[in-house]
Amino acid sequence: MTATTPALEFSTTYSSTPVPAQRRAQILADPGFGSTFTDHMITATWTPEGWHDAGLRPYAPLSLDPATAVLHYAQSVFEGLKAYRHDDGSVWAFRPEANGSRMLKSTARMALPSLPAESFVEAVDLLVRTDAEWVPSGGEASLYVRPFMFASEVFLGVRPAQHVTFCVVASPAGPYFSSGVKPVDIWLSSEYTRAAPGGTGAAKCAGNYAASLVAQQEAIEHGCGQVCFLDAVEGRWVEELGGMNLYFVRADGSIVTPELTGTILEGVTRDSIITLAGDRGYKVEERRISIDEWRDGVESGDITEVFACGTAAVVTPLGRLVWDGGEVSTGDEPGPVTQEIRQALLDVQYGRAADAHGWMHRVV
Ligand code: COI
Repeated sequence: MTATTPALEFSTTYSSTPVPAQRRAQILADPGFGSTFTDHMITATWTPEGWHDAGLRPYAPLSLDPATAVLHYAQSVFEGLKAYRHDDGSVWAFRPEANGSRMLKSTARMALPSLPAESFVEAVDLLVRTDAEWVPSGGEASLYVRPFMFASEVFLGVRPAQHVTFCVVASPAGPYFSSGVKPVDIWLSSEYTRAAPGGTGAAKCAGNYAASLVAQQEAIEHGCGQVCFLDAVEGRWVEELGGMNLYFVRADGSIVTPELTGTILEGVTRDSIITLAGDRGYKVEERRISIDEWRDGVESGDITEVFACGTAAVVTPLGRLVWDGGEVSTGDEPGPVTQEIRQALLDVQYGRAADAHGWMHRVV
């Protein structure tokens, strides 16, 4: 399908059994991450004739035949974005069109149909607007929106599915890491890689996350919260964490992030930080950074802070980098540049700072 695919029309069926207001208030008081969901969801179906049956409906389990293709071959992509409540009660999504465009790239790589970016944004708008009472206020809470698309054809042959489902669900969210903004320790994976040239590293596909889990398990066994992957060819260049991009703050005031090589996810938060840091006068370099530069830079003091970023975890300071046989540490407290960038991004998202780049999209 091409970019000329007509936009979808969404029907609406409201839930007759929404979560009672008192229970919702309890959930919103301490939402955690990713375990409770709002009253509605969006679904749409694609078959070779095009997209159809798009609509908002009550949140409910999906019923899948055991032979549904996604369960066997993981033809599936997803997105993550957040909606924020501002002090005046209005609700805003952050750069939803950027997620819509990225989903188009992911679906192209995974031989899934194109969903027009405008329909992606409309689906997000409709769900967030309908379930606006689920957008928490205060602190750093938000509504995490999870659009995804998967092969729903009941068929065990290995080929692109001829029946595909697009779905959007939403989940009230507090901090991704229960420890808050304390530095997270990182395990350097030497046995496993995340993505190879020509592979799916730049796509936000389910399989990339599945492939990271054994290394993530190794990280936990070594007392670390996250795993870092190196490139698959030389085992030398820093790529990304299991689900977040990386930034290095140097003593000369510059900031470095691994360049996009086709094996790294094009993070919307990563991109926003390049712009925000530039606005604040930092020199931002997108280039390859080797694991030796990371290790030696921390030891020599040339690298003063390391942080990770993503929609779910915003900007998260990193502490120790641990590998088989050693470790270096940038400290137990978030560094000043990490905190400044984190605050600058949150201030735009929560409407406390001017939205100089037109990133905020009003929903309610
Ligand atoms: C996000 O930050 O939205 C992610 O994709 C990370 C994760 C929760 C999968």
